[in-house]
Amino acid sequence: MKDNTLGAYDIADLRELARRRLPKGVFEFFDRGNGDEVAVANNRAAFERIKLNPHMLVDTSARSQAITLLGKAQKMPIVVAPTGSAGLAWYEGEIALARAAKAAGIPFTLATGSMTSLERVAAEAGGSLWFQVYMWPDRSLSHGLIERARAAGYEALVVTVDTPVPPGREYNLRNGMTVPFRFTRRNVTDVAMHPRWLAGVLARYLLTTGMPRYQNYPTQMKARITALPMGRSMMVTDSLTWDDLREIRRRWPHALMVKGILRAEDARLAADCGVDGVIVSNHGGRAVDSARATIEILPEVVAAAGSRVTVLVDSGFRRGEDVIKALALGAKAVLIGRAPLHGTAVAGEAGAARAIEIYRDEIDRLMALIGCPGVSALDASYLAR
Ligand SMILES: Cc1cc2nc3c(=O)[nH]c(=O)nc-3n(C[C@H](O)[C@H](O)[C@H](O)COP(=O)(O)O)c2cc1C
Repeated sequence: MKDNTLGAYDIADLRELARRRLPKGVFEFFDRGNGDEVAVANNRAAFERIKLNPHMLVDTSARSQAITLLGKAQKMPIVVAPTGSAGLAWYEGEIALARAAKAAGIPFTLATGSMTSLERVAAEAGGSLWFQVYMWPDRSLSHGLIERARAAGYEALVVTVDTPVPPGREYNLRNGMTVPFRFTRRNVTDVAMHPRWLAGVLARYLLTTGMPRYQNYPTQMKARITALPMGRSMMVTDSLTWDDLREIRRRWPHALMVKGILRAEDARLAADCGVDGVIVSNHGGRAVDSARATIEILPEVVAAAGSRVTVLVDSGFRRGEDVIKALALGAKAVLIGRAPLHGTAVAGEAGAARAIEIYRDEIDRLMALIGCPGVSALDASYLAR
């Protein structure tokens, strides 16, 4: 039988394989947090404090992970999160990620800051596609981008609101990693020491579209972005308000979600704006370093707005157990960011597929162990008080 494990038996293995494959600057951009990286560690520590309360002697022989999310059936309670610059993990990594998600029967969210245009991802991967938007200072340009996503057939729009300014992330400065990618005194040795990435990723861009850059940006904006440190090169705005969200609601006819909600009151306000879903997220610990763990905020958001909007969550989910805990606390699904990105860096579509498979296997095993016949049955009874 063919071994599709890639030698990775959990997400930590995939991360380690990605670390070896990628230039340090790219790996750190994908993997690290912000500031002193307290939020990254705290996201994980919070899961450890939550204990499960298994039911015994339940027939789980026909157990299922299938859910209906925003009116659409999907095979697992997982969504691939938007990760900007995913095209640096693999040549056209966004297409690899989208194809892996499609094969697994789950949605893929394309980031505004992708190295493959939203139209190409739709044409070459298909599947259930969501589009993430960072609003730009010039709202008309953002509305134009949203219209492009609609025309290309994206099913849902995710408006990220937790990044009104580019985060600090000093390591990107130290590593000399920029978008558009550019050789600098600081990264040239790093890149040269990773010939597989140089030949398999960077050289392929150079031979086709040139230095990797953000392909969804309108021409006038592309021209203005001259190599800025990764994570700072995205254009964002610090003047976004609930009125903007209402305007987006008016323009976008399909499912609309707001990502980066960290308090119950904001979830209520988002529901008032007519969104379909909120994503409780601290950006994987990459924005506010003293943010609370999302698994702790989740029950407050579910209590405040769970009857009006679909509540999703992300940040730090590395195990099937983490996903089970979130569902038991009222989340309808979980987004995963770094894990599929690391998988993509290891083996493109096969690596992203492996990451999703690891979650699938871990969730499946745990469902049997805790007496859960279907993920929709998960509730507080599975959690220890
Ligand atoms: C490399 C990287 C790039 C990201 N880019 C974006 C982005 O462009 N837009 C966005 O809304 N979130 C972005 N995120 C955050 C993810 O969507 C998600 O919230 C986070 O990764 C979840 O945490 P996890 O990585 O621990 O699963 C990014 C995360 C990473 C790791």
